[in-house]
Amino acid sequence: MTDTLAPCASAPRGKDPAIERRVAIVTGASRGIGKAIALRLARDGRHVVAVARNAEALAEVVSAITAAGGSAEARSCDLADAASYAQLVEEVASAHGRLDILVNNAGITRDGLILRMSDDDFDTVLSVNLRSCFAGCRAASRHMLRGKWGRIVNLGSVSGISGNAGQANYAAAKAGVIGLTKTIAQELGSKGITANVIAPGFISTDMTDALPQMVKDKAIEHIPVRRFGTPDDIASACAYISSDEAGYLTGHVLVVDGGMTM
Ligand code: NAI
Repeated sequence: MTDTLAPCASAPRGKDPAIERRVAIVTGASRGIGKAIALRLARDGRHVVAVARNAEALAEVVSAITAAGGSAEARSCDLADAASYAQLVEEVASAHGRLDILVNNAGITRDGLILRMSDDDFDTVLSVNLRSCFAGCRAASRHMLRGKWGRIVNLGSVSGISGNAGQANYAAAKAGVIGLTKTIAQELGSKGITANVIAPGFISTDMTDALPQMVKDKAIEHIPVRRFGTPDDIASACAYISSDEAGYLTGHVLVVDGGMTM
């Protein structure tokens, strides 16, 4: 995990004030992949709006960013309530007069084999992982259209491409994220707005820490790079996809999995 905001050699810093001021919303920014993305985008000069449920953890992320000279603010929101999230997007865009980057990263799992999966487990995962993503994209699109520029980055998963035993709800939601994102890419591509998915494999976070060691060891055997990814591996991909340099990349599903599913 990157905790300092040392300048990145590849980032186009200090060239264009409009780029420096870009406003980015990152959901699930209190820990794991979302936190790494928030720190990285701030390091690249974005103003980061860090969103999650846990206000205390968010405040720490914002402190880390500002202590290193970056710009950020925290917004608590339960993404299970898609309308609140859409409202948050509206408020951020109005307060800043712009919204340039939306990273829908927050996600949950409620694993179980299909025979035992309850309606509630299915609906809750769909609600946080897909419905809020849709609500955020719809709300953000309006403001990105006004600015004639936008970068939407949605977190998928290799489970959403290949399916995964025990994850019918999660795989369905992540497959939905891919369809949603490709559709947005088609609808808004001519307006300067790109929409892409990052589909991680196994990344070391609280989400995967919950897996039994035996499962992790077995998984690593199938990863050519022979390790789980780090949140920073995903943050680097997000930094590129959300940059000005990535204007010709849209409707893409970028698999970042150490080669596991090639
Ligand atoms: P994590 O569990 O470490 O963090 C999830 C973040 O989402 C936290 O900040 C949490 O507060 C936030 N969040 C969860 N439910 C929320 C809600 N109802 N309202 C507001 N915020 C909420 O997860 P991790 O590992 O960082 O995953 C981030 C994204 O990457 C997720 O979309 C996940 O599905 C995806 N992903 C992760 C993989 C991994 O191996 N860690 C693999 C493939 C995809």
